[in-house]
Amino acid sequence: MRFGKLTGYEAEKGKITLDFEGKRAGLQVITAQIVRVFYEEDGVKIPSKAIEGEKAVETPTRLERKEDGLWVFTDTLSARVSDGFHVDFFDPEGAAVCLDYRGERKPVKRLSDEYLKLLEGEGHSLLEGRRECAFEVVKKLEGSEHFYGLGDKTGFLDKRQYDYEMWNTDNPDPQVDNFKALYKSIPFFMALTDSHVYGIFMDNTWKSYFDMGRESEEYYWFGAKGGNLDYYYIAGDSLARVLQNYTYLTGTCPLPQRWTLGYHQSRWGYMTREDVEEVARGMRQNDIPCDVLHFDIDYMQDYKVFTWNRGRYDGDPEGYLKSLAERGFKAVTINDPGVKKQEGYEVYDEGVEKGYFAKTPEGEVYINAVWPGDAAFPDFGSPAVRKWWGEKQKFLLDTGVRGIWNDMNEPASFHGPLPETVVFSDEDRKTIHGEMHNVYGHLMAKATYEGLKALDGRRPFVITRACYAGSQKYTTAWTGDNHSIWSHIQMLIPQLCNLGLSGMPFVGTDVGGFGSDTTPELLARWVEAGCFSPLFRNHSALGTRPQEPWQFGEEVLDIYRKYVKLRYSWIPYFYDLFYEEERTGAPLMRPLVFHYEKDENARVCNDEFLLGDRILAAPVVNQGAVRRMVYLPEGKWYDYWTREEYTGPVSFVAEAPLDTCPVYVKAGSVIPTMEPRSYVEEKPLDTLILDVYPGKGSWDHYLDNGEDFAYREGKYHHYRFTVEEDGSVSGKILHAGYEKPYERILVRRSPEGATEELCLDA
Ligand code: GLC
Repeated sequence: MRFGKLTGYEAEKGKITLDFEGKRAGLQVITAQIVRVFYEEDGVKIPSKAIEGEKAVETPTRLERKEDGLWVFTDTLSARVSDGFHVDFFDPEGAAVCLDYRGERKPVKRLSDEYLKLLEGEGHSLLEGRRECAFEVVKKLEGSEHFYGLGDKTGFLDKRQYDYEMWNTDNPDPQVDNFKALYKSIPFFMALTDSHVYGIFMDNTWKSYFDMGRESEEYYWFGAKGGNLDYYYIAGDSLARVLQNYTYLTGTCPLPQRWTLGYHQSRWGYMTREDVEEVARGMRQNDIPCDVLHFDIDYMQDYKVFTWNRGRYDGDPEGYLKSLAERGFKAVTINDPGVKKQEGYEVYDEGVEKGYFAKTPEGEVYINAVWPGDAAFPDFGSPAVRKWWGEKQKFLLDTGVRGIWNDMNEPASFHGPLPETVVFSDEDRKTIHGEMHNVYGHLMAKATYEGLKALDGRRPFVITRACYAGSQKYTTAWTGDNHSIWSHIQMLIPQLCNLGLSGMPFVGTDVGGFGSDTTPELLARWVEAGCFSPLFRNHSALGTRPQEPWQFGEEVLDIYRKYVKLRYSWIPYFYDLFYEEERTGAPLMRPLVFHYEKDENARVCNDEFLLGDRILAAPVVNQGAVRRMVYLPEGKWYDYWTREEYTGPVSFVAEAPLDTCPVYVKAGSVIPTMEPRSYVEEKPLDTLILDVYPGKGSWDHYLDNGEDFAYREGKYHHYRFTVEEDGSVSGKILHAGYEKPYERILVRRSPEGATEELCLDA
């Protein structure tokens, strides 16, 4: 796509229409730190799926036409638009931050011209992967860039020098570094250079490409196969601030119900009530705290959504779920989009009759195969279909289900991929699969969230495999079908951190690994790392070696228990982080660079992460290792287990026998914890225990009913605890709106140490 000379412009409020010799493009100041750059092909507006409502606010903006282009100034940035629709961004002092690249792209030449001639026209596999784009945006590399985000990708934290695709993909092979795409498409990244940080969000749902300097050291580029050129330049003085601006656009993840932060046990293969019961009993008998049991596809009748195979549950799934609930277990059921093609099956008949399924270009219901065999695909782009799907959740809620696990929603299909031409809706406009593919899971999650919210009133709990930018408003996510291999425990650190940096904070991996057989050592190390992930679920594939906590004898069981209990004690801390996340978009699991941007080690650290800004985990992710190198960034830190002190920046070898995950806590921390229990609501949350780490600092702690939306009406307690260099602690209440505040607040100075009661300041 080429643009000519900038021949004119018109400005109305923050919206600037640009004329490039008759071709009209636009620039829109959304806030003082966010500028949208767009070109609408044939003037067709495509509603954003990621952004809900109007985000543009009135922003003091000044325009100046200069020789080198049209300059747009806000308080915190300036943008220059010049001939060819080049857009450059500068900081308030006028220093260049993000410039368009003016030269020609120089794609990597893999074949000689002779070879190319030979292969041309033959559809040879060596020619595949040549990327046809409707548009490309090519940006100059300043040189010191590190790139973070891009949603769920394999490989390492820093995406510089790699290239990726956005095309939600279900590929069962073990996911390794050179995968271009996984199940999720979040076309947002942040660039950190020696002098600046900024983000770019390309709001385009088509198959798209991000080459982060693989092709060249001079530029990076992104582009999409179809749709409009539409991206947001997002400024900020830190990664945290840029991410906050991104979540201002696309939303944050709402505070979840407290029990969702507990431990989840799952496996594809729990077929009957007896199978589930054995697991439930195992949890309590082995003293492994557990809140959630997942029901994979076998609970359904012939894999038909919104049915229950009653025979496998003694004819009474409602009664069984109730008995589980009485013992503190919440049921989460899987729900796939594919609706079995079977006349007489209500969901299918209704969908056909109302025209709720995607169609072939000829107007027939499009059929492909998934678990139930031939199946039709709900057209989630249509508001009526989303409403229908949302209302259908009633069946599951009435059975006693407390959360919905959306799977296979890339959408996955067994008889080859859905052709790009399958007809879907985009609200009331008809379009094709090529445009709606990457938002299929997103819209399914939205339908599910809204349905649950309307039916139940509590904070909906949804898990998804596929998603798009902004899905965090409706759903949590797991990273899909990993394997029980060491490279996948390694990968979870950058993977979950980058998801967090892409606006998806409530995420986790299948603990122990999904495919392949786990080993006792791998499972032990995985629970040591996984207990820090917001979504904490052990899940495995049909036919793999069972991996419930007790499958490998006493040693692994003890380790498992130790870390699940550690997780439970920290739930108040996790919950506080969610409060913060809902307001600021800051993820719970953070790469070190999130708080130590200037630190070169932190920028590329792939084997440690932070939980909030106080806790640093350095899990062992190598087979056989019983010690590992630990890096602590600047400041004073305490070893969580021994209280040994370190002053960063420092690297050292930490002892890490099989039962030890090295964990460090920043000096001046007050970590809110709760008393041991076998599930979150087993006892009232009437006692708070503060783990104190001397140093100067404070912590804001929140308490509410952990269940509904009353906190949004002020029904919560907000405490602030302050710690001093000598370890003394004080606390006060900043907001008192919750009817059941703590009865006791205790202070503890060492892991097993005695506690003393804290009196709050008046
Ligand atoms: C998919 C899911 C997996 C699930 C399986 C059967 O592979 O990713 O988690 O167990 O389908 O439903």
